[in-house]
Amino acid sequence: MANQDDQFKKVISHAKEYGYIFPSSEIYDGLSAVYDYAQNGAELKKNIRDYWWKAMVQMHDNIVGIDASILMHPTTWKASGHVDAFNDPLIDNKDSKKRYRADVLVEDYVAKIEAKIDKEVAKAEKRFGDAFDKEQFVATNPRVVKYTEQAQAILKRLGQSLEKEDLADVKALIEELEIADPDTGSKNWTEVKQFNLMFGTKLGASADSAMDLYLRPETAQGIFVNFLNVQKTGRMKIPFGIAQTGKAFRNEIVARQFIFRMREFEQMEMQFFIKPGTQKEWYDYWKETRLKWHLSLGMGEDNYRFHDHEKLAHYADAASDIEFKFPFGFKELEGIHSRTDFDLAQHEKFSNKKLQYFDPEENKSYVPYVLETSIGLDRMFLAVFSNSLQEEELENGSTRTVLKLPAVLAPTKVAILPLVKKDGLPEVAKEIFEELKWDFNVTYDEKDAVGRRYRRQDAAGTPFCVTVDHDTLEDQTVTIRHRDTMEQKRVKITELRDLVKEEVDVRNWLMKVK
Ligand code: GAP
Repeated sequence: MANQDDQFKKVISHAKEYGYIFPSSEIYDGLSAVYDYAQNGAELKKNIRDYWWKAMVQMHDNIVGIDASILMHPTTWKASGHVDAFNDPLIDNKDSKKRYRADVLVEDYVAKIEAKIDKEVAKAEKRFGDAFDKEQFVATNPRVVKYTEQAQAILKRLGQSLEKEDLADVKALIEELEIADPDTGSKNWTEVKQFNLMFGTKLGASADSAMDLYLRPETAQGIFVNFLNVQKTGRMKIPFGIAQTGKAFRNEIVARQFIFRMREFEQMEMQFFIKPGTQKEWYDYWKETRLKWHLSLGMGEDNYRFHDHEKLAHYADAASDIEFKFPFGFKELEGIHSRTDFDLAQHEKFSNKKLQYFDPEENKSYVPYVLETSIGLDRMFLAVFSNSLQEEELENGSTRTVLKLPAVLAPTKVAILPLVKKDGLPEVAKEIFEELKWDFNVTYDEKDAVGRRYRRQDAAGTPFCVTVDHDTLEDQTVTIRHRDTMEQKRVKITELRDLVKEEVDVRNWLMKVK
């Protein structure tokens, strides 16, 4: 656990040191669980958003994108169920006065059991070497089987209690497991209560006539209320999807873990409108399609797993998370939800407007069912960033810090480095810079020895360094150095553009897992 904590601390400090993420309003000591994306962070975030948009909107001829507003008519949130049901179970510790999410306390307890399983597996792997069969070991080793059963039983009971809103049983579970306040060790807990996560605000100048509004807690409702507008103006035929990316706000009870759980964050959501009865088929399709999108980035198949929900949100008839192995363990990265006709039917009821689709094949109108894919952009950022940050031992015994961002997402693609600051090398380097900037984000660096500049670019995540030396003046060739392999190649200046394009082109990355 200490190792995980250290690794996570490194992620946070590296994100700050290399201009990716700053605490919000830091000169006033920051604001809890609110962060600003810095010069490199804003680029990485934009590239992740574009990678998603391209895969979802551009690559599907039946999915279109919109950009709905953050403020919506307040009835939206009555209809969607958020006013009544968008709650988290909270519990206070009477001694420390600290507030926690009761379900997260239990889940963290289970994560510790899972860590024990991982430890047993690692030990056995070491013992048996190549002959090790992980699947068989996990299924038969008595200790691992016991841990697995224990973890499953706890999660099942938690799921069932939350589903039944049996908050007394959630507290009983915390007491039975002897879960203590993670900060102080105290087991002196209050009852578990529900807490609504929406931020309220007001529209209008005068206090009497002001209208109570909410900052949207999800982008999805902006899609539902526009369903018919898009369907009619886009002449969309079922099945079709509407995608959007944008800010969402939640007054999270416990917002630790850096940008994993924020109060202001960004979502990338897609609602896929389908014929009722076909939801199972589309649920499976979107689970597979979304996992492939993740795998295309090459961040390791073992770092992903599905977690099918026991406890379903008020709108869903099936739901699964794609979980990612963050520095603090496997946690939800994306949700795939079969939302039935819940949202559209509710908006029909509350607005008194028909939100139906006339199906020419069936010759009848119906309220479509919806399959949703919903991923947090900031959470995806954390997955990419934390997975990419590595310390490597080099052959000469030294270490290097390298941010192995997938090249397609890296904020800066190429650093142009004149070997020395004289003899006309900076001039040639700047010419290359001027040429490449039409196609890529490039940077120019002439300060310090070239070895130090390589290290700086490795740590910043730049996939390529191009070095201009005295030979360049003679034969118009440069050295291109690859961040991950540190391999260096001599190439013609005129070949650079195509070489880099091949490595950073979205098409090539998305094609990897078709
Ligand atoms: N429209 C469905 C919906 O909003 P959700 O599971 O509540 O479902 C979807 O959220 C995704 O949004 C999550 O998988 C997560 O990646 C991201 N997310 C949710 N709350 C977040 C928070 N407080 N901070 C950062 N990301 C969050």
